[in-house]
Amino acid sequence: MWGSRCALCLLCLMMVCCDRPSGGRKSRSAPSCLLWVQISDTHIVQKGEDVERENWLKEAITEINRLRPDFVVVTGDLVELPSDEAYQNYVTIMSELDAPLYSVIGNHDDNSAANPADYADLYRKYVDRSTYYSFDWREYHLVVLDSVAPGKHSGTFHVPEDQLDWLKKDLSKAGDKKILMFSHHPPTGERFDVHDYDDLRDIMKDYNVKALYSAHLHGKPLEEFIDNTYFINTGATSSFPLDGSELGYRVNLMSGDWMWSACVKLGESAIQWKQLYPREE
Ligand SMILES: [Fe+2]
Repeated sequence: MWGSRCALCLLCLMMVCCDRPSGGRKSRSAPSCLLWVQISDTHIVQKGEDVERENWLKEAITEINRLRPDFVVVTGDLVELPSDEAYQNYVTIMSELDAPLYSVIGNHDDNSAANPADYADLYRKYVDRSTYYSFDWREYHLVVLDSVAPGKHSGTFHVPEDQLDWLKKDLSKAGDKKILMFSHHPPTGERFDVHDYDDLRDIMKDYNVKALYSAHLHGKPLEEFIDNTYFINTGATSSFPLDGSELGYRVNLMSGDWMWSACVKLGESAIQWKQLYPREE
């Protein structure tokens, strides 16, 4: 249910703890809150080859900058086909974002179709030297996964054993922090060659994973609550929407035990929040 009653709570919350002074990054007073944005499947090509797509992403960045989020996560398929020119164009456009940016690799970002040894080397060159990593943001522990099968441009889900071993060690050190996870592929259902995620899901069950945010489907927003975790899927920001979905991004607000999420259509400022936690049965 889209929580209309939480709109007032959110307004109060944002006034109290999300106020930023002009000219400064942010101002904090207890209770703290976290406002962050998920974008995805930007599928950028080389400069000038698809101006409409570039403009969609620029429009999204302008709207997101107005929200002044703590950070932005882009959940994969940054480029349509990996090349120096496409990555350079993507990086140039994203440089207009006024917030820290965390990236997740998608199947379109892998350039190892001809040689597995080349896995993600363009991604590492232009975006991030690591394809999986974690970081803390106050009381949250955020984990970025690499779910891409090298050389499988079609989009097979794949989290190898060594990454799962790293994940177990990483989560075991999270303590009482609330865990948020990110992967390009959704580890639910069996769409677009996505399956074989049972090992990942088994590990997640042992920890306080509040939500896993994914993309890949280019479809309508999904918020599935399974095994005490929200599996959240978000559509494309600047490429091709499927299944009647629309281009946009997801805004997330968290404070203490409260979490809300909302998908915003590109060009529309209205935010209709959905309360995730505490859960409304
Ligand atoms: Fe995609």
